[in-house]
Amino acid sequence: MTSPPAVARRALRLAHKFAISTALIGTLGVSLLAFAAAAPAALAQDAPAAASQPWMDASLDAAARTDLVLKQMTQAEKLQLVFGYFSTNANWMTGGTKLFTFNKDGMPDSAGYVPGIPRLGIPAQSQTDAGVGVATQRSPTPRERTALPSGIATAATWNPSVAYAGGAMIGSEARLSGFNVQLAGGMDLLREARNGRNFEYSGEDPWLAGVITGNEIKGIQSNHIISTMKHYALNAQETNRFTIDVKIADQAARQSDLLAFQFANEIGKPGSVMCAYNRVNGYYSCENAWLLNDVLKTDWGFKGYVMSDWGATHSTVAAANNGLDQESGWAFDKSAYFAGALQEAINNGYVSEARLDDMARRILWAMFDNGLFEHPLDGDQSAKIDRVANGKVTQTDAEEAIVLLKNNGLLPVAKSAKSILIVGAHADVGVLSGGGSSQVYPVGGLAAPDEFPAGFPGPKVFYPSSPMKALQARTKASVTYLDGKDVAATAAAAAKADLVIVFGEQWTGESIDAPDLNLPLGQDAVISAVAKANPKTVVVLETGGPVVMPWLNDVGAVLEAWYPGTSGGEAIARVLTGEVNPSGHLPATFPASLAQTPRPVLDGDPKLDDNAHPHTDYDIEGATVGYKWFDQKGLTPLFPFGHGLSYTTFSLSGLSAKASGKGISATFTVKNTGKLAGADVAQVYVSPVTAAGWEAPKRLGAFAKVSLKPGKSGKSTVTVDPRLLATYNSASKTWTIAAGDYKVILATSATTPVSEVTVHLDAQTLDVNGQ
Ligand code: BGC
Repeated sequence: MTSPPAVARRALRLAHKFAISTALIGTLGVSLLAFAAAAPAALAQDAPAAASQPWMDASLDAAARTDLVLKQMTQAEKLQLVFGYFSTNANWMTGGTKLFTFNKDGMPDSAGYVPGIPRLGIPAQSQTDAGVGVATQRSPTPRERTALPSGIATAATWNPSVAYAGGAMIGSEARLSGFNVQLAGGMDLLREARNGRNFEYSGEDPWLAGVITGNEIKGIQSNHIISTMKHYALNAQETNRFTIDVKIADQAARQSDLLAFQFANEIGKPGSVMCAYNRVNGYYSCENAWLLNDVLKTDWGFKGYVMSDWGATHSTVAAANNGLDQESGWAFDKSAYFAGALQEAINNGYVSEARLDDMARRILWAMFDNGLFEHPLDGDQSAKIDRVANGKVTQTDAEEAIVLLKNNGLLPVAKSAKSILIVGAHADVGVLSGGGSSQVYPVGGLAAPDEFPAGFPGPKVFYPSSPMKALQARTKASVTYLDGKDVAATAAAAAKADLVIVFGEQWTGESIDAPDLNLPLGQDAVISAVAKANPKTVVVLETGGPVVMPWLNDVGAVLEAWYPGTSGGEAIARVLTGEVNPSGHLPATFPASLAQTPRPVLDGDPKLDDNAHPHTDYDIEGATVGYKWFDQKGLTPLFPFGHGLSYTTFSLSGLSAKASGKGISATFTVKNTGKLAGADVAQVYVSPVTAAGWEAPKRLGAFAKVSLKPGKSGKSTVTVDPRLLATYNSASKTWTIAAGDYKVILATSATTPVSEVTVHLDAQTLDVNGQ
């Protein structure tokens, strides 16, 4: 097996992941030598068609079919399945010199490719990023696809059917684009408000994140493609993401991030789990026996396969024996660990044949289970994408995701307004999206020039869906735009307008954390100046996650629109005008300052190189993540988890609760007491009356989003999973519910309880899966 020179490999990975330009590689003095990965030996492709083979009988279950085909496979064929290639001609990261053989059978400019085995009818695995739609690696000719709002936005809908519909839509575009594996299902809990990838995830609560992501995965897989769930696990910051070592106790992890993954796994049944870049308790995630073998495969009974993140494999023997099933994205790793080296390790007895069988079995099982054999890909069929229908799916998601944070009556926009000034964030032409490997490119190209200085995770993409044009189409007022760069002139224009709508943006992207929680580029000063000139100022935020709002008291209304996707401009305008009544609620606490958070200063100095091993201590907060931390410490956030206003009003009443099954069921009535149709998110928190060793005073136990016409009411019954009433016991691997009284609190946010009842629970011990 050949191997690229270490320096060149390192430069290659750094260039991609740290946005180092190719010119800089030159200055590093790296000599880029041609290198071809040790591809497994050529396999017979000319054998008779496999259609009549017994494993092609779709009436058999996935496990039986897997066993049948596995028996026919040679060692070389099994090895072929466990080794994936980056499917992009990565000249952009090598300065034009080829460092690896780009597998031309994969879809161009995509995340990955694992060749099929035609003699056995095993299809190729064609992999695309990511959670908001079909992405393209940076390319002059990106595929143009529908983008959902960011993951955190979908979590803000608190609507599992919206998450499912979004997943089903992007999965259908993936299939029609020639992909049968979608690298979606991002869901690391929001422990770090500055995390550059918070936009890809589902907020801070295990139940909400698990339900939303699980439903998205289910939707994707309804297209007979495999979805991942990622990045497993505890990948909550980008700073030094390749080496940071996260310390956390088993119990705390099982009650927080791992619980979120456990719920999503049960709901979505992803065919694959992507292990993360970071280390956990001293071991890289992709060779972490506790995470992969113990928790995921043994305790949860996960039958699918673990694929590495791109560049997250660090060994052959340790990775194989500790639970990694497929090395991804060659040539991101330092070595082709699962190619020739794995064969050698097996032949020398360091990895058993049985383990190779297990790897192949898991991959094949996921492929059978998701119908990849029965539903072969047919190359690029993107002309068949129903862009109008898909546009409606993303627009609905965006509309349900927008959170009305504050409103002193300025919204919906008054019909009497004659002049509206729109300021900032290119709101005249488009809406923002998040950067990195998940980047989906829109039909029509970038609405505004790329403002990111160089390389990955750029470009900074504004989708051509203009909030301003969509608003103008709905109002008789004259609508004008200023970019806000001349603060004095903007304030002067604001003073003359009937209404000012300032757009504030925070672009975030993979590989970079936000430096702080302020809006960048001096936007806070612009908003303050505008609000002082005209109190009739509405702020629309397009951010990756929580931000602070030093101008909050001076403005009349605030909408959090997140990254709202390719129909985001339309969605924002419809919410501004009241055509859509806002119903989003925060899936994460907005702190008043970084000083309130567990880590005011981020661990892991980005200036350290790959050989340094920075640490971060998640036992500081343990499972006390987000609102639980704020509750525990008695801190008042800027906006609490679960918060979201409406243009109508709701009442919550009639709460009753009882022990039911192993958990609790709660029933209540939601009434629309206002004059407009709308949807409310009723939240049920649970809390032990006497101390039961919980990580926090209360936990979200269940929620229901209820749509109601004015004057109408509806009864909802929700159930609380027993694990949310228990503590995890690491020694016995059981969940224990302590006997006693538990408060069941009906609330409109984590800090606004409406009513509460008490339920007595008997002592219970449940297995590791809450059964
Ligand atoms: C990201 C993954 C992504 C992969 C393939 C990595 O840099 O962390 O989320 O799926 O690249 O593009």
